[in-house]
Amino acid sequence: MIRAIAAIDDKQGIAAGGSIPWNIPEDHRHFRSFTEHGVVVMGWATYEEFALPLPNRRNIVVSRTQQPVREGWELITDVEAFLQLATEDVWIIGGAQLYASTLQFCDELYLTQVVGDFNCDRFFPPFEADFTLQDQSPMQTSGQYQYQFNVYQRANKNRQV
Ligand SMILES: NC(=O)c1ccc[n+]([C@@H]2O[C@H](COP(=O)([O-])OP(=O)(O)OC[C@H]3O[C@@H](n4cnc5c(N)ncnc54)[C@H](OP(=O)(O)O)[C@@H]3O)[C@@H](O)[C@H]2O)c1
Repeated sequence: MIRAIAAIDDKQGIAAGGSIPWNIPEDHRHFRSFTEHGVVVMGWATYEEFALPLPNRRNIVVSRTQQPVREGWELITDVEAFLQLATEDVWIIGGAQLYASTLQFCDELYLTQVVGDFNCDRFFPPFEADFTLQDQSPMQTSGQYQYQFNVYQRANKNRQV
């Protein structure tokens, strides 16, 4: 199964000025609970924001250029081939470019919907035409933030792998 996991705002924004403009510890735990012990795939810009690889996970970074990666990460240049050959569950963890280029391969989307417009400059791609809401938590509050955990499943089975 190939899944994307992201936190998005009212405009499907995911980041502003090179970072995520909210801090919701419960969402960090949610992210960890699903991705821990699995395979996480990230774009080069997202990789650059991590000081260390995510623990207890296989950390894969995607770039079109062959370049050295830090200890704890594996580099792949052909994410489409990787996803087509994947035998394990895979989590696409961002950012915007990688979500957009791999959405066609995703079976499920785990989207934390954060209430508000955070003036983002990176966005999750449009997905509503191909995915239906499968599961939704009650509205949650964390400090100043309100959010819901949503799971979407592919409505048509025509993904490309
Ligand atoms: N809200 C959230 O849940 C969330 C989650 C993750 C990240 N983010 C945010 O997203 C922002 C980064 O997003 P971004 O769109 O700027 O960058 P990104 O997707 O993380 O990385 C873009 C780079 O990854 C490589 N790449 C992406 N798709 C590829 C493909 N299909 N094949 C080969 N290489 C590919 C390319 O690297 P090369 O140029 O080296 O070829 C590209 O320049 C960060 O600010 C981060 O904080 C938010």
